[in-house]
Amino acid sequence: MSFDYLIVGSGFFGAICAKHLHDQGKSVVVVEKRNHIGGNCYTEQRDGINIHTYGPHIFHTNNPTVWAWINQFAEFKPFRLQVMAMAKGDVYSLPFSMHTFEKAYNARTPNEARYHIAKDSQFITGEDNLETAAIKKVGRKVYELLIKGYTEKQWMRDADTLPASIVKRLPVRFTYDTNYFNDTFQGIPVGGYTQIFEKLLDGIPVMLETDFFTSPLPEYKNLIYTGPIDKFFDYMHGALEYKTVIHKHRYYPSENVQGCPVMNYCDKSVPYTRIIEHKHFEGVQTEGSWISTEFPTPYIVEQTDPYYPVNDERNNAIYGAYKAMAESLPNVYFGGRLAEYKYYDMHQVVESALNFCKAKL
Ligand code: FDA
Repeated sequence: MSFDYLIVGSGFFGAICAKHLHDQGKSVVVVEKRNHIGGNCYTEQRDGINIHTYGPHIFHTNNPTVWAWINQFAEFKPFRLQVMAMAKGDVYSLPFSMHTFEKAYNARTPNEARYHIAKDSQFITGEDNLETAAIKKVGRKVYELLIKGYTEKQWMRDADTLPASIVKRLPVRFTYDTNYFNDTFQGIPVGGYTQIFEKLLDGIPVMLETDFFTSPLPEYKNLIYTGPIDKFFDYMHGALEYKTVIHKHRYYPSENVQGCPVMNYCDKSVPYTRIIEHKHFEGVQTEGSWISTEFPTPYIVEQTDPYYPVNDERNNAIYGAYKAMAESLPNVYFGGRLAEYKYYDMHQVVESALNFCKAKL
């Protein structure tokens, strides 16, 4: 038998396309190289706790259509992410808000905070890079406490060699609002994310532990590819760069280990960037707790997982060359974070996949 569509990858992009085609009566098969569905959004239940295996995932969007769509597949518990940050033995609140400025500068009003930031950044001149941009935004003290060490660990580079554009994404507020995201709709699926993918892929054959490039495949007429685009073209224009991390998951026989879902570790002497305590996402009551420690690690092509695209000039140019090749291929479609080399959050990849299905399939 020849399937109408073969889909590479069972993350949001692949699973949404698979459901759309299946609902239209097309024959579809999904191949997934990991031993589970869900891509990086996969959650695994252990000891009554849903572990976000590939890092913390909070669904947030301003788009009511996307929110209504995702709510068909799980019940969402309202959730506001509040990130804490450990630096030189003290705990600070993120994103940068009046709580942070009060603790660092003893500033009690927005005007006092602005005054301290201006004073603490007054001698900054020269090339705009991550370091100078960050100091202008939050002052040298907050930069050195909360940004420098964390960023240098995460990027494995000195902060003054990184582009200022990275810091432009950092939210800075002169209010006591500590909500990490600004979006209207924010939540965590009760029971984890994997159930969403089980429902999307219901009735569709999924071949796990099947690598599109090396495993025997069924015959197919059309291809939807959600893996890394450079790999598809055998790196002929060069390998794209990614940032990546590894998570070490551990069970603690303690009811509450750190009191919050995400604690950043900002000192450079600490080898990890953050610790995630999963039970706080859904607020479950269990005797023990699962925590994951996140270690930045060099991205090695085909050896470590590609996580965050590095959309600088060089990589965007390489991606452009692959995109042009991709667009010239008949019956092959590329979509999702890895195939479009785009820093998609979940709501964005959902929206992109729904639009793609409407327009192309
Ligand atoms: P995804 O990477 O999920 O799926 C691609 C699939 O293709 C994978 O399952 C992969 O194994 C498979 N594949 C690749 N090559 C293959 C091959 N050769 N053969 C077979 N299968 C192959 N978003 C958000 O909204 N809120 C959040 O809090 C977070 N947090 C977050 C933390 C971390 C650490 C990361 C890395 C990402 C996030 N995200 C996020 C982003 C979110 O993970 C992302 O938007 C979606 O996973 C993208 O879905 P895709 O389907 O594009 O890719």
